[in-house]
Amino acid sequence: MGSKVSVVGAGFYGSTTAMRLAEYNIFETVVLTDIVEGKPEGLALDMNQSRSIEGFETKIIGATTTAEGAGYEATANSDVVVITAGLPRKPGMSRMDLIGVNAGIVRGVAENIAKHSPNAVIIVVSNPLDEMTALAQLATGFPRNRVMGQAGMLDTARFTNFVAEKLGVPVSAVKTLTLGSHGETMVPVPSRCTVNGTPLTEKLSAAEIEELVVRTRNGGAEVVALLKTGSAYYAPSAAAARMAKAVIEDSGAVMPVCAWVDGEFGISGVYLGVEAKIGRSGIQKVVETELSAHELAELKVAAEAVRTKQADVQSL
Ligand code: LAC
Repeated sequence: MGSKVSVVGAGFYGSTTAMRLAEYNIFETVVLTDIVEGKPEGLALDMNQSRSIEGFETKIIGATTTAEGAGYEATANSDVVVITAGLPRKPGMSRMDLIGVNAGIVRGVAENIAKHSPNAVIIVVSNPLDEMTALAQLATGFPRNRVMGQAGMLDTARFTNFVAEKLGVPVSAVKTLTLGSHGETMVPVPSRCTVNGTPLTEKLSAAEIEELVVRTRNGGAEVVALLKTGSAYYAPSAAAARMAKAVIEDSGAVMPVCAWVDGEFGISGVYLGVEAKIGRSGIQKVVETELSAHELAELKVAAEAVRTKQADVQSL
């Protein structure tokens, strides 16, 4: 049987993720679901009609679901599931402001997914990201390697874009990295950043790098403030789709993702943004990236911040 990926939530994030996954032309089926009746079916119909123009064969199936679990049969036996369900931010909100309402939504979705796709690898993108990833693992009861969150790919891509723009170089010349939480304790890692192989620290002053780090940390909020009606989705969906691709292709690609950390960096028992090797089993290995003493200290601060919140979601 061909491979199948389901995307839960047909908002902008979910629908652009589904479209990107279909255009890769590597899955037999992409299923898009939503609780808004007819929306996923309508979007799927529209996406399928683009197939002959864009030249891909992946079939997109739309399915309306309910909180009680109706409609989830369409997602049955998915290899990968991307959970985008939940509310996005409005201007002035922090991702953490969404925790109460999104916890209820993500818990229900995760339970239904676990019922119909017991062997899936789950990629969570709902906010607050680190907490919703931890909650999805609890609600599914899946092994921790099979549940991960998308944030580091996005935050890293934002950092790369800002560096490329600042220096007037192609984005392909720039390598950056961000770890930590997808929030206040995001940890951009300047010591691992290069421009055409030259350390970023030789290209920009500490103050200039700090300015780009701050802009990266506020990258999501900057977009929300401009859009006013919701949050970013082009860069976020690109990040989530690449993670799903790495899983289904069993590529072993190393990506910054939200993964369960169990002893690496001297940190244990928490979902946190780290570099990890991604493949068919989900997280194959957390990579202990070499960090400066300051960056490692920041990562530990991030771990303790998300640990407290992740303990809270158990009761939400
Ligand atoms: C962002 C949201 C999607 O960072 O978390 O844009």
